[in-house]
Amino acid sequence: VLPPIEYLDFAHRWYGDVRYDLATSGISTANPDLLGAVDPSDLGSRQRFVQALSRRYGVKEQEIAPAMGTSGGLFVVYATLLSSGDHVLVEAPNYEPIWRVAQALGATIDRFERRFADAYDIDPDAVLAAVGEKTRVVTITNPHNPTGAIVSDDTIRRLAARLAERGVSLLIDEAYLELSKPRSTARHLGANVFTCSSATKCWGVSWARAGWVFLPEAMQAAALRVERYVVGMAPPVSWAYGALAVDAAETLLARAVELQAGKRALVDAFLAEHASLLTWAPPPMTSVFGFVRDLRGRDLLRPIERAIAEHKVIVAPGTFFGESSAFRLGWTTKHADVEPGLDLLARALELCEARPSR
Ligand SMILES: Cc1ncc(COP(=O)(O)O)c(C=O)c1O
Repeated sequence: VLPPIEYLDFAHRWYGDVRYDLATSGISTANPDLLGAVDPSDLGSRQRFVQALSRRYGVKEQEIAPAMGTSGGLFVVYATLLSSGDHVLVEAPNYEPIWRVAQALGATIDRFERRFADAYDIDPDAVLAAVGEKTRVVTITNPHNPTGAIVSDDTIRRLAARLAERGVSLLIDEAYLELSKPRSTARHLGANVFTCSSATKCWGVSWARAGWVFLPEAMQAAALRVERYVVGMAPPVSWAYGALAVDAAETLLARAVELQAGKRALVDAFLAEHASLLTWAPPPMTSVFGFVRDLRGRDLLRPIERAIAEHKVIVAPGTFFGESSAFRLGWTTKHADVEPGLDLLARALELCEARPSR
């Protein structure tokens, strides 16, 4: 029986259903008519999608496996690499599926810390110290979900090289990378690097489920086989919209920049106002979320549930990322909702001094 993915259960229960949404992390939905018309039975769409990805990222077609979203990509990589009893090492705090999926496939899991004090950067020595005999994969997200931190190419290159010496693959979930480093992928940074991403988060094309894995050529056949087990044949319409999205990526990114304009300043002002109770490692200006810690150290799950029920505002509880006194704050909701949402959040989390009674 598959274990629950608690964060996704929470997200599916609430996201889209609460008036002020400061939880969602993706750019708001771009409608299909922004991309153009597709023929749902066009079997050539898969090849066009692969070719479009190959052009945009400079990755050989033989190193590409289309997947159903980044989620599908994570599954493809783990199903390709793991056998029961293998060990997988993941970052913490983390996006739960990066370890749940591996666990569900029979792997044992350990975590290495990305520390607030280091602005959530990765120290290759600390990762290597946690690698064991049975470690098959080390998995990170870049940009980091939940904090938005970005690891440099140099660090990734060094980490990949050290892992290669130990026969370990490095899986990097790049779901948010296009917002800060368009057209790039860490697949080029090491022979043992696997990456996955999709049109979902940065381009706002979540509904197409057009995702991909970039991987060593020798692994492509095994990776493509996963689709046969999971969906038989993935819908050609997903690849058709995926190909259009890749070709329209610059337009979609410009749309994202326009939609996000001015919101970060409101978030920065909120954090400055409540600096005695809240702190964060400020993510790059291109990030659309960050991870906020409550200096009182209390578990925020119940207060956030109350915020949803009583104040109609939602953030992503840190509990689901492995840190209960924090929350992921996102600012992809419409501009007019950010400030009132933050005000409601301040009330719900009791950030404001109680007014002295007269
Ligand atoms: C790091 C990360 N990877 C993957 C996903 C899922 O992406 P997709 O919708 O493309 O499956 C998410 C969604 O929140 C995410 O945060």
